[in-house]
Amino acid sequence: MTRIFSGVKPTGHLTLGNYLGAVRRWAAEDQHRADALFCVVDLHALTVEHDPARVRRLSRQAATLLLAAGLDPQRCTVFVQSHVDEHTRLAYLMECTASDGEMRRMIQYKEKTASERARGGGVRLSLLTYPALMAADILAYGTDEVPVGEDQAQHVELTRDLAVRFNQRYGQTFVIPRTTQPKVAARVMDLQDPTSKMGKSHARTAGIIYLLDEPEAVRKKVMRAVTDGGSDVVHDRAERPGVANLLDVLAACTGGDPEKIAGQYDSYGALKKDTAEAVVELLRPVRERHAELAADPASVDAVLRDGAERARAMARPRVDEAYRAVGLLPPV
Ligand code: AMP
Ligand code: TRP
Repeated sequence: MTRIFSGVKPTGHLTLGNYLGAVRRWAAEDQHRADALFCVVDLHALTVEHDPARVRRLSRQAATLLLAAGLDPQRCTVFVQSHVDEHTRLAYLMECTASDGEMRRMIQYKEKTASERARGGGVRLSLLTYPALMAADILAYGTDEVPVGEDQAQHVELTRDLAVRFNQRYGQTFVIPRTTQPKVAARVMDLQDPTSKMGKSHARTAGIIYLLDEPEAVRKKVMRAVTDGGSDVVHDRAERPGVANLLDVLAACTGGDPEKIAGQYDSYGALKKDTAEAVVELLRPVRERHAELAADPASVDAVLRDGAERARAMARPRVDEAYRAVGLLPPV
């Protein structure tokens, strides 16, 4: 059976970008057609300045939201990365497989380094080695497919390279994974700055729709979205990024085609109004279910406990095998 692994990091509240780029598909498709694991990758949240209490809160919220979005613990494994030691055990072997140069080439590293420096802080070494941990997350489970948004494709490419290299050097150990991306909305842009990704840890929040935003807040943010010069509605990412983004979001919500949808509008106002309503309706059941689950934290804990146990049992043999393959003496 196909094995799927993906994760979300608790560095901020989950956004519409996370939902359309990744989580919605995990729930609607991936968990039904494969043996799937979905992980709150909390160790990754420690790669930038963090507040311990906030990471703890956001980790719980992310797990609750994954369940609210429809992940069913009877069908898939939902767990927290730091609960399964195999991730860090294997990450070290990945650091011994990767080169310093290939880590430094990662776009996310370059972008985050710049923003951490701009904030006046230092750059944590773990920000550089992040892709080694991400490769470990994926490879520990013999993953075939990694459903992510467009921004993570480069990290999955690197994971493939590391798996191939490890197998060549030390013998067949890892499955070579591949990325899968949604057809529409693989990169949802910030509503106030449609040339940059809608990211959950950005400081300016006016252009970011959070999954737990109240309907009025969603409407306000969409109605105030930056649109482009001109007034006709066309889908052109390069010349009209703001309008193209709204069309992508509307298409993703309604299951339509952004270019066709463009032909149905002759004003930005009407497009915004329909997009706002479509997003409100899309998120409504997730918000409602989240409220129910958040009122019963013990049930979420039980899911995570069981998930970690299952994940550990799946990862352990492969990571042990990798330890033997590189030449480490098995414990006696
Ligand atoms: P992260 O927020 O970086 O933990 O991302 C979790 C998942 O959501 C990854 O698969 C990302 O590729 C995806 N994702 C994050 N932001 C966006 C976005 N703006 N558009 C589409 N997918 C996204
Ligand atoms: N790096 C991913 C992100 O920022 C999160 C992540 C960590 C991940 N490990 C993963 C995604 C393994 C898929 C598979 O979104």
